[in-house]
Amino acid sequence: MCGIFGMIGKNAVGNTLTALKLLEYRGYDSAGIAAKRNGHIDVYKTEGRIAALAKIVQGAEETDMAIGHTRWATHGAVCTQNAHPFLSRDGRFAIVHNGIIENYKQLKQTLPSVDFGSQTDSETVAHLLAREYRGDALQAVLTVARLLKGSFAIAIVCVETRTIYAVKNKSPLVVGLSESGAYLCSDVRCISRFAQRVAVAPDNTVVELSAREAKFYDFFGKEKETDFFTADRFDEAENAEGDFMLKEIFEIPEKLLCALDGYKQSDGLQLGRFTVNALKRIYLIGCGTAYNSGLQAAAVARKWLDLDVLPVIASEFLYDNYPVDDNTLAFLISQSGETADTVRAAERVRERGGKTYAVTNTRSSSLTFVCEHTVNIFAGSEYAVASTKAYNCQLEVLTLLLADIAFARGVLSQSRRSELLDELAALPDAVQGILDDCSSLARVAEQIKNCSAVFYIGRTADYPIACEGSLKLKEISYIHSEAYPAGELKHGTLALMEPTVAVVAISTQSELADKTASSVIEVASRGAKVIAVSPRLFDNALSVKLPRLSPETSGIVSVVPLQLLAYYTAKSLGRDVDKPRHLAKSVTVE
Ligand code: M6R
Repeated sequence: MCGIFGMIGKNAVGNTLTALKLLEYRGYDSAGIAAKRNGHIDVYKTEGRIAALAKIVQGAEETDMAIGHTRWATHGAVCTQNAHPFLSRDGRFAIVHNGIIENYKQLKQTLPSVDFGSQTDSETVAHLLAREYRGDALQAVLTVARLLKGSFAIAIVCVETRTIYAVKNKSPLVVGLSESGAYLCSDVRCISRFAQRVAVAPDNTVVELSAREAKFYDFFGKEKETDFFTADRFDEAENAEGDFMLKEIFEIPEKLLCALDGYKQSDGLQLGRFTVNALKRIYLIGCGTAYNSGLQAAAVARKWLDLDVLPVIASEFLYDNYPVDDNTLAFLISQSGETADTVRAAERVRERGGKTYAVTNTRSSSLTFVCEHTVNIFAGSEYAVASTKAYNCQLEVLTLLLADIAFARGVLSQSRRSELLDELAALPDAVQGILDDCSSLARVAEQIKNCSAVFYIGRTADYPIACEGSLKLKEISYIHSEAYPAGELKHGTLALMEPTVAVVAISTQSELADKTASSVIEVASRGAKVIAVSPRLFDNALSVKLPRLSPETSGIVSVVPLQLLAYYTAKSLGRDVDKPRHLAKSVTVE
């Protein structure tokens, strides 16, 4: 994880600070800047958020060359000592690093006389550069690049040159050029604030960035051709007031419409009928909320499709033996498009001949460069670590894609497909109804905020919603929470039921409601508080009313009260809702 930025141009310290604020979603436990001035490098760093760093650099003399870092700790505790940048012992090089140097222990052993100031893997790089420097900074960078194993995007300044160097493998790195300067950065969204002409550095690349140009080399110094393109401008909301999470939940109606319109106007499924008919299996691959949207979409598609639709957690896909051949289609789902496990899974599918679609909210993200096709979910930028509107839009777009496949295979009729489009068009109003009554969820939150654990239960297509509700609650409130298929409770978890426990029962399918009612009685009679999220009322339970919708579309709406419940619970407990402890918005390490 972590975010890195570097620039050559006016007000480099101030601009680096602005960039770090935009990159803070990638990690926010400590931060730092290295500024090159008149033959020396000054380092400012601190534990805490970018706001804390801003206080330290306030009043610092401006300069035209700086690199910066916002950290999500992997190696070494959260403290100023472990914050980046790191200076080489001779003060000649400063580095910032995103990723993991897997062989850092072996490399450290080759530096026996160095007194390391941190517990990080990253610091090693600064000292290696000093050791390898023989009067040519680029050669030193190339030599060190060849020594490193793992995933890394490293920005380097050297007191001797007017150049910023970068080394890139398996961690995102974007380079940008504009009238005002030259930039490198972990993501296209941030860099587009400074430069529209951008290039994505390929793996195993060293970048040499001067004020007007960028050169790309392999690790042996052979120049590489790398294409520049014009980046989209992303909306910027770093100064918005209030919690992003609540703001983003309230955007769901509008974004669902954008996703539907966007899909209708896009090329949609770009596979011919012949290819679709030959498909043997479809994977829906992602992590966290993105995985949960795949889980839900698979439950929907099972109603139509006559082939295997398999949701898989990206990190599991990498280390298990899932079959892939040229009749395999994979949807790689990722809001950020930068999640390392998901990007790696996409590479794996491609290597084995499968077809890949990125289902993402971020154009020009790493995932879109790996996948053959990209389908935009049009959710707009998400800033809160807890993903909300992206889930609803992912699910809507996946439903459309899977319906198109079912239609092309002749297992979904034209009339049902048209009805589905009408149903999807009506969802924003259904969500708005829930948002208008959000104060009732705030009251329910008061009932669960002091619980020792909250279990979410649902059957078949309601189970993925339970998973997403549970994930939302635990990540921002820190209350222990798990999700189960309702029928599974009595096989062990029932033993945990007592008055300090709450159970959230999701029931949207009328044919399964009586079964869920039995589960509600079972847990209530053991003392648990029960909250039933359903179009119908249940005895022994507080009711959160849902509109009645078709089974294929109800998940897009029924998750909304659970998103609000998590928000209000965390808020009531005084948590930092947008930036929960230990997490980051984008997980760019495996
Ligand atoms: O950017 P992505 O959609 O690939 O992110 C995947 C997960 O890291 C993300 O959904 C995470 O689980 C969220 N914090 C959940 O709210």
